[in-house]
Amino acid sequence: MSKATPSTSSSYAETDLANLVHPLTDHSRLAATAPLVIVAAEGCELIDERGRRILDGSAGLWTVNLGHGRADLVEAARRQMATVAYVATFGGVSSPPAIELAERIVDLAPPGLGGVFFVSGGSEANETAIKLARRHWVRDGRPEKAVVIAHDRGYHGLAGVTTTATRLDPYHGDFGPEAPQIVEVSAPYTYRCDAGVPCDPETCPVCTGSALESRIREVGGDRVAAVVVEPVFGSGGVIVPPPGYLRAVREVCDRHEVLLIVDEVITGFGRTGSWFASGAQEVTPDLLTFAKGVSSGYVPLGGVLVSDQLWDELRDPAAEPGFLMHGFTHSGHPVACAVGLANIAAIEAEGILDRVEEATATLAGLLEPLSDLPEVGEIRQAGLMVGIELVADKQTRARFPKDLTRGRQVADQARDRGLLTRGLLDDILCLAPPFTISDEQLARAVTIVGESIVATRQPV
Ligand SMILES: Cc1ncc(COP(=O)(O)O)c(C=O)c1O
Repeated sequence: MSKATPSTSSSYAETDLANLVHPLTDHSRLAATAPLVIVAAEGCELIDERGRRILDGSAGLWTVNLGHGRADLVEAARRQMATVAYVATFGGVSSPPAIELAERIVDLAPPGLGGVFFVSGGSEANETAIKLARRHWVRDGRPEKAVVIAHDRGYHGLAGVTTTATRLDPYHGDFGPEAPQIVEVSAPYTYRCDAGVPCDPETCPVCTGSALESRIREVGGDRVAAVVVEPVFGSGGVIVPPPGYLRAVREVCDRHEVLLIVDEVITGFGRTGSWFASGAQEVTPDLLTFAKGVSSGYVPLGGVLVSDQLWDELRDPAAEPGFLMHGFTHSGHPVACAVGLANIAAIEAEGILDRVEEATATLAGLLEPLSDLPEVGEIRQAGLMVGIELVADKQTRARFPKDLTRGRQVADQARDRGLLTRGLLDDILCLAPPFTISDEQLARAVTIVGESIVATRQPV
């Protein structure tokens, strides 16, 4: 129970500190600084309790793709709440928004994906995909095919199995036992390639998929259920795999009868300029997960697209027992699905994917001069996903000492200068603005990033 005074515009911070447990937050540090309390938002700008406007350089968490304060999305939610706010989809109950959204998403997805299972977010989507992959092999009479191979530096969520499938060190160690049967493979991280630097993606064993193939052989193809991969690794540092990596992974999976789960929780619905990054690369996964951009974050929504084959198996009249014993209270939530439909309609009506392409080129031009800064080791960009890797030594690619927390310092400086951005692991700065960002706002964001890098230099 709260021991603090009730919230007023001036005491939000105090009441927050007294009651609110924040995800991914150092609470002792937060107490020494103060939470940033956002009371309103318009377009690409957030407004804090003191009325300060801050550019939303991360679109929340790669989420608010159409920007804040959209009347069409608000109206879609309002109308659906007034019509029927909730029905459970368990046992075959349904609602028009869930039905229509499933159809729309199947239409937009790479060919060969035939059905959608709705959830509330990315972790649930990946948990579901892993369960469906394992179920496929159980039903096929091969229950020992249960291992999931996840990539180093991949991020797939923080629920049960997905915490273990997230291959980033800081997420491990505090929470007791890890999920079994998750195995790691190197990431196609050319700047710091496990197979050696400099990395030639044409011949590198990691980038060509042969490291993955060796891993499958080591584990035994008869024990591997699935490989999971992000088309662009987001939280692991905006690692952009060389062109062809996803296709190589698909081919390796096919050779070893392993299912491919492509995690499009960030890339789905336009962030790299197409509805789905796998579709743009002409790769059809067996399971494709999405969340975030499907509703631009206005309501929690996510899902899993399943291949025609998996969908047919789920509907097989001969399957005994036929029940899919998996689901969530909010699977197919009518309000969330109504917002998803309005979000897709807006992306189409406003030519948003073309705008992403334009903004991608503009942003690339603006970022170029940052490469000259001595701290900027590499700038990676895929559509409106940018990672700026800060290093202590450009020649050797040596990182800054961890306790310097240079990336976080830069992000803090940027916040003071009016840009909300994130310092990811290993001092990698991330920019991932809403798709509706103007050229002027893009320029402002990049200027602030440059100034913040310079302002956090140690005096020599
Ligand atoms: C690629 C990817 N997968 C899964 C997730 C987990 O999504 P959620 O936080 O909605 O559970 C995230 C979240 O950032 C993500 O970036």
